Amino acid sequence: MADKGGVSRRGFLQGVGAAGAVSCSGFLPFRAAVASDGFFEIAAGRSEHRLYKPDAAASSLWTYNGGLPGPEIRARRGETIKVRLINNLEEGTSIHWHGIRIDNAMDGVSGLTQQAVAPGETFEYEFTSPDAGTYWYHAHNKSWNQVGRGLYGPLIIEEDTQVFDRDHDLTLLLDDWRLDQDGKLHLESFGSMMDWSHAGRLGNWLTVNGKSLPSYTLNAGEAYRLRLVNAANARILELDLAGLGARIVALDGQALEAPMDAPEGPFPLGPAQRADIIMVPKAGQALALREVSGNAPFDVAQFPVSPGSTDQQSHAAMPVLPVNSLPEPDLSKARELTLHMTGGAMGMMGAMTYKGAPLTREIMRETGQLWAFNGVANLPEQSFFAAERGETIAVTVRNDTAFAHAMHSHGHHFRILEQSLPLAPDMNTWRDTFLIAPGETTKIAFVADNPGKWLFHCHMLEHAAAGMTTWFEVA
Ligand code: C2O
Ligand code: CU
Repeated sequence: MADKGGVSRRGFLQGVGAAGAVSCSGFLPFRAAVASDGFFEIAAGRSEHRLYKPDAAASSLWTYNGGLPGPEIRARRGETIKVRLINNLEEGTSIHWHGIRIDNAMDGVSGLTQQAVAPGETFEYEFTSPDAGTYWYHAHNKSWNQVGRGLYGPLIIEEDTQVFDRDHDLTLLLDDWRLDQDGKLHLESFGSMMDWSHAGRLGNWLTVNGKSLPSYTLNAGEAYRLRLVNAANARILELDLAGLGARIVALDGQALEAPMDAPEGPFPLGPAQRADIIMVPKAGQALALREVSGNAPFDVAQFPVSPGSTDQQSHAAMPVLPVNSLPEPDLSKARELTLHMTGGAMGMMGAMTYKGAPLTREIMRETGQLWAFNGVANLPEQSFFAAERGETIAVTVRNDTAFAHAMHSHGHHFRILEQSLPLAPDMNTWRDTFLIAPGETTKIAFVADNPGKWLFHCHMLEHAAAGMTTWFEVA
């Protein structure tokens, strides 16, 4: 991957040894407060957090309800979810419910589905999810800045009947941060053109649920579900899941029709992607989730195993997640489209336009626009395509840039039909975000069945801001 250069150039700081592990009692996350009218109340505002070692300087972040990550929102499939967003920031904001096949008016995209919620104002979201699974929510106004400062949280949709109880269901939101010498969030580099034109804002320090190297004690012989979420702006994490003896049971919220043993070697988890894994620790094991993309692999979370009651559970006895029902693309009738990705440093530029005018070097410098889809930088006036409701859309995406990208479609999940150079074992699975390496071509297909205006963009948030954003419409 081209952005490997970023990893080795900055690297992750090393130094939290086993002695530095923070032990977390219990799995119960910070829950959203529910007001008397049944709304979860989520206030976006500033709060201080120590991202580095416990005695290091605190960073001033933007968070939901003062938590990093924001409070967990958890509901049953089909249940009505009501959230009141209160904006205590000094700029407009909105919340996007990533991966939910949602009612368009509730999708939370400022400038497309709603106006940004002004400082001091509130906005009420009300939606249901047709799918169970692991999702997340995050700011969707100047996301490169707002998500990069901490505005995200977990959104868990439970299956109709409980598969794992709360003691065996753990959500891990992974994020990388760029810290300065004192261990504080590096603020001056937000919006750096170097990041926007290269691999996006990469960090040098990794947190899990806002902590450095948390430790969760598991019981031997019991099955656990781990929900992994990559909340980083741009970092493609490479995780060693085989080392956990894990089975991959869901990707991007969708339970796999055929769960698989974690492949040996690095498992890539791109920005915004999720992977649910099941593992059964054995007595005497000391397990850790390891990040292996750099030259010096390191633990990101540790799982000491306490001797449990039984130790005989095998894969065969592992709980099975019910598969959501998604509309199957009808490939015989598919409308075939192409999305050509260009621009960025060291890439093919070709002719590009922005707001209807040619994108010259000078305009690039002024506006920070330097990537394009089909020659057009950023949210064009004209949609990428307009679909009839129920139409099958097949998109062949060709990456003619020098960087990897994480393409995300709003309101729909798609099947991966073809990958010229697979980054993840996700062939034919449902996803809402897919990774595409430089020079690669990937073909996806989905049924455009959700009416409204939907974004299709790179989830490397600097790339999205710098041109890699388009939209489509479903009648
Ligand atoms: Cu995770 Cu456009 O969003
Ligand atoms: Cu990108």
